[in-house]
Amino acid sequence: MDFSIKSFDAKNGLAQLKTGCVAVGVYEDKKLSAAATELDKKGAITAAVKTGDISGKPGSSLLLRDVAGVTAQRVLLVGLGKEDSAGHKEFTGAASALARAFASLGSNEAAIALPFERLRERDAAWAIKAAVLAVREQAYRFDQMKSKPDNSTSGARKITVAVHSEDANMAKAALAEAVALANGMDLTRDLGNLPPNVCTPTYLANTAKKLARQFKLDVEVLDRKQLEALKMGSFLSVTNGSAEPPKFIILKHMGGKAKDAPTVLVGKGITFDTGGISLKPGSAMDEMKYDMCGAASVLGTFRTIAEMKLKLNVIGVIPTCENMPSGTATRPGDIVTSMSGQTIEILNTDAEGRLILCDALTYVERFKPAAVVDIATLTGACITALGHHNSGLFTRHDDAHDALANALLKAGKLSGDNAWRMPIEDVYQEQLKSNFADMANIGGPPAGSITAACFLERYTKKYTWAHLDIAGTAWKSGAAKGATGRPVPLLTSFLIERAQTAAM
Ligand code: BES
Ligand code: MN
Ligand code: ZN
Repeated sequence: MDFSIKSFDAKNGLAQLKTGCVAVGVYEDKKLSAAATELDKKGAITAAVKTGDISGKPGSSLLLRDVAGVTAQRVLLVGLGKEDSAGHKEFTGAASALARAFASLGSNEAAIALPFERLRERDAAWAIKAAVLAVREQAYRFDQMKSKPDNSTSGARKITVAVHSEDANMAKAALAEAVALANGMDLTRDLGNLPPNVCTPTYLANTAKKLARQFKLDVEVLDRKQLEALKMGSFLSVTNGSAEPPKFIILKHMGGKAKDAPTVLVGKGITFDTGGISLKPGSAMDEMKYDMCGAASVLGTFRTIAEMKLKLNVIGVIPTCENMPSGTATRPGDIVTSMSGQTIEILNTDAEGRLILCDALTYVERFKPAAVVDIATLTGACITALGHHNSGLFTRHDDAHDALANALLKAGKLSGDNAWRMPIEDVYQEQLKSNFADMANIGGPPAGSITAACFLERYTKKYTWAHLDIAGTAWKSGAAKGATGRPVPLLTSFLIERAQTAAM
């Protein structure tokens, strides 16, 4: 898929654009956007709107052919809702309707001429990004494991974004950002969708090395011996039942000033979670190949910020292994010593994500981070609490952490990749009490996503930290089963904002 910006002015109008299809906006109340008015030379668009062939509601669309006075072979009308209230939600709906229409278009080329600059509370750069992302989202396929890839050639592959001449530079920057984000999300989705016999810890480590080579990042991969030397007894206990060697990946994108403290992302990389000896039930267990989506979102975010050449120091850390049952697997009742020195009674081997993350969270202290965000498909309880709309966001509750939480929430809103804040409080910490070790690895059925966050909190005292539980948002089940690429949009928006603040 290939995107470009084309600028228009009074002399060089949209009506003369040679393309298979040009998409323009129409509003409810039978109003036309400026671009639609420009193409309405002989009243064909007005007629379509007047007769009710298109309602103008967000998500509605209508394809017209051979519109008189228009060079493009087709005009796609897309509804944007009411003119004075069209904002984030309406535009996103319109963009996905447009993307669907483009995907089945009988033409290789198409143009988007929506009123990017006329949205409520969102600027034109945001709108251009949203349109490009919707088209890329619609174009995503995962067919690399099929013996005959689906080579269907229909749909628009060469897309022009039409803007006013004075907006061309802004549009070019927005387009580059959107393409970088889509590339990162595609990587995250591919890694999630790959089967667990292909996407092993070694595969994730090799992906990190490939990214590092391609974008000149620093990468380091620690193996079992080095993890033993670091005394990561908690992480290593999860790998005991698996024949796949564990890996610990460190990726560095040092785009900021040398002296600036880094922002650290830590991603859970369980490439398959059987539950271990506390074996999961069989139904839908295949979806536990997605238990590395935290790791995949870190790699995807690095793909994005590296392509964008973001001016910020960012370090990604990924503990990755399998959670398998076997004669050498960790037992319920085993007590392990984490890198921090704190001991953990493993009462359920299926609460393994926190066991690999806690050692990674101790490891990152050495970077003296400005902030640490971990991303993990951590608890089924988070799905019960928030469903599939919001990721769970957890931090301590003081000024520094409120600021970090608010920055993440804001990034989620802007990117449409939302999170919802949950509490961390001492009353929940009590549920982690163990009779025999410093803590248990589970806190019982009530508030399962909160007690998981409380467990992690005990390993993050030395820096400002947030935890994103993406169990409900990283992939979809059912007929549309597949990775979503979330929360790469949230993380990218968050890091862009931090880079802008760092530059001031
Ligand atoms: N990876 C799972 C969490 C999960 C389950 C994510 C289903 C998405 C869908 C995690 O390792 C796990 O098994 N958590 C347990 C914790 C429990 C044993 C305290 C859970 O959620 O059941
Ligand atoms: Mn588990
Ligand atoms: Zn898990």
